[in-house]
Amino acid sequence: MLFRLSVLSLALLLIGAVHSSPAFAQAEEQAAEQAEEQAASYSRRGADGCIGCHRRWEVPLMGIFETPHGNPHDPRSPFGEKQLQCEACHGPGDAHGGRVARGDPRPPIINFGSDAWTPIPQQNAMCLQCHEGHVGEQWAGSAHDVNTVACADCHSSHPVKDPMLDKRTQSEACYACHANVEAHFMKPSAHPVRQGQVGCTDCHKPHGSDADGLLVRSTVNETCFTCHAEKRGPLVWEHAPVVEDCSNCHDPHGAVHPAMLTRRPPLLCQSCHTPSGHPSVPYDSNDLATGSASPFLLSGNCLSCHTQVHGSNHPSGKALMR
Ligand code: HEC
Ligand code: HEC
Ligand code: HEC
Ligand code: HEC
Ligand code: HEC
Ligand code: HEC
Ligand code: HEC
Ligand code: HEC
Ligand code: HEC
Ligand code: HEC
Repeated sequence: MLFRLSVLSLALLLIGAVHSSPAFAQAEEQAAEQAEEQAASYSRRGADGCIGCHRRWEVPLMGIFETPHGNPHDPRSPFGEKQLQCEACHGPGDAHGGRVARGDPRPPIINFGSDAWTPIPQQNAMCLQCHEGHVGEQWAGSAHDVNTVACADCHSSHPVKDPMLDKRTQSEACYACHANVEAHFMKPSAHPVRQGQVGCTDCHKPHGSDADGLLVRSTVNETCFTCHAEKRGPLVWEHAPVVEDCSNCHDPHGAVHPAMLTRRPPLLCQSCHTPSGHPSVPYDSNDLATGSASPFLLSGNCLSCHTQVHGSNHPSGKALMR
């Protein structure tokens, strides 16, 4: 453990160097003692010591050596040269891994996830030591940060593959807290998240975003256009609610109605449009009985005439019919 030796010798050097002012000397001595204590509180055997006890009963533990965190050639990784190995994340572990008198509890060590004893801000700080750069900037003040969600509620460090980094597996961890969202994706018409074609991260930035709802783009529509670019326009004849917000008519996660519509047409359309626009609109069954039903009802669906519900580029497409 080269790193620890050098911290120690630095501390000794400091102690040796203080002779001038007594108050100053005292402060420096204290600092040196602290540094020594700190250095000593990390285990001397590093990962070897931890694994000696732990590999026997925790199966996925060793997977970490196949992840970027276990890469000995990356000087920034916990297992890079001069790094603290397991203790880079779990914190000083000398006391925890040391001798314990029979019947005494083993001193605790930092552990991860919502169920762990370690307070979540302290857990996250361990990760942010190294990930402050790009993750931390988004994270601070995000919906997940202010609700004290732990990095480890989503991420796993020990399995060979962190499920978060794969669209096909990330949703499971999200559903643990967002059960209502899972219910939407189970509905008959939904974005193919279950099929692994679309992931939460196609639309959301879980670490934080400038947009509402942690969206990847500044608005709902801009988010949708990343895949449905043909709906962007500009069009000669626009349909106002489409320009405003796709979720006026669609549930972005999933719905019971075809095409993820929030309601079934004509009810959807009638939630904004009164029948008065049409020359003759027999909406009640009396009209049917008298045989005077107009084609507006018999066709059953506004869409059979107004096919261009997202807008039209046809010169005479004002009524969204062509
Ligand atoms: C002498 C054996 C031994 C050594 C060495 C050891 N541990 Fe442990 N560790 C244990 C035991 C036993 C437990 C279960 C403790 C308990 O339930 O109180 C444990 C628990 C843990 C936990 C879970 C803590 C919790 O609160 O649930 C973590 C994380 C951990 N050890 C990490 C490490 C790391 C990292 C090292 C190396 C710095 C290490 N251990 C060294 C025996 C050891
Ligand atoms: C000692 C520094 C260090 C600590 C502490 C650390 N990481 Fe990392 N982490 C890295 C490095 C280095 C990489 C590789 C980055 C790269 O390749 O650009 C990495 C990569 C990752 C990745 C991407 C992994 C992949 O397979 O691509 C995730 C996710 C991650 N870290 C999460 C965490 C979490 C969560 C914690 C806290 C439990 C944590 N890290 C603690 C240094 C660290
Ligand atoms: C709500 C779930 C969630 C939380 C909480 C979370 N992450 Fe992530 N993280 C993800 C997902 C999902 C990805 C994959 C991003 C992608 O594919 O676009 C990711 C990717 C990463 C990566 C690697 C990819 C990259 O962005 O460079 C790192 C490193 C990382 N997270 C670190 C952290 C740290 C550190 C924390 C805690 C401060 C944290 N994450 C909290 C879900 C989360
Ligand atoms: C990149 C940060 C990181 C490093 C490095 C790391 N761990 Fe972990 N460890 C975690 C996280 C996060 C968890 C929570 C479970 C998970 O994500 O897989 C965990 C869980 C554990 C547990 C399980 C505790 C429990 O509740 O059952 C043990 C034991 C453990 N780690 C030991 C080790 C040992 C031994 C090493 C070194 C070989 C090590 N860890 C290196 C982040 C790390
Ligand atoms: C440990 C619990 C937990 C996990 C895991 C989790 N979240 Fe969250 N999430 C929350 C909490 C708490 C909030 C804030 C309260 C709320 O809006 O429900 C939140 C809010 C959100 C929001 C809404 C933000 C807003 O401004 O309205 C989105 C989007 C979100 N999470 C997406 C995700 C995604 C995607 C994942 C998985 C990658 C995920 N969450 C995993 C707890 C979690
Ligand atoms: C096709 C894009 C898309 C996908 C994929 C997607 N979301 Fe969303 N999500 C949205 C939009 C749009 C909103 C509404 C945001 C707003 O207006 O605030 C939203 C809102 C949310 C909210 C807050 C409101 C609510 O319904 O509770 C959560 C939490 C959430 N999404 C989680 C998830 C999770 C978890 C996944 C993956 C399983 C996911 N989303 C996948 C687009 C998407
Ligand atoms: C990551 C790409 C992606 C993003 C972003 C995206 N979608 Fe989709 N969308 C898809 C895919 C893939 C399908 C399925 C196409 C298929 O099954 O043929 C789809 C299908 C749909 C459907 C038709 C469903 C059906 O049953 O016919 C609607 C409506 C839809 N998306 C609306 C939206 C809305 C609204 C947004 C923005 C909140 C959005 N999409 C964002 C990829 C995306
Ligand atoms: C006024 C209501 C309304 C709004 C707002 C709306 N849509 Fe639609 N959308 C519909 C209806 C109705 C259908 C079903 C069309 C059909 O069955 O022919 C549909 C179908 C779709 C489909 C699948 C069929 C196709 O045309 O590709 C996609 C994708 C889609 N909408 C995307 C979007 C996007 C993206 C937005 C926002 C820019 C949006 N919609 C806004 C009503 C709306
Ligand atoms: C969220 C409210 C809303 C919903 C839902 C909605 N519309 Fe509209 N629609 C509008 C608004 C606002 C206008 C613009 C009215 C104006 O310019 O006077 C409009 C315009 C139209 C026009 C063009 C009228 C003209 O000649 O200027 C047609 C046709 C139309 N809608 C049909 C539909 C159909 C069909 C549906 C159902 C698929 C529907 N609308 C759903 C709000 C809505
Ligand atoms: C049989 C075909 C047909 C059906 C079905 C139909 N419409 Fe129309 N709609 C028309 C025609 C034709 C016009 C007049 C177009 C024009 O003036 O150029 C029109 C005009 C409109 C207008 C514009 C009225 C205005 O003030 O200028 C709206 C809004 C509208 N329809 C909504 C709906 C809604 C909502 C439904 C379903 C409840 C519906 N339409 C069903 C054919 C139809």
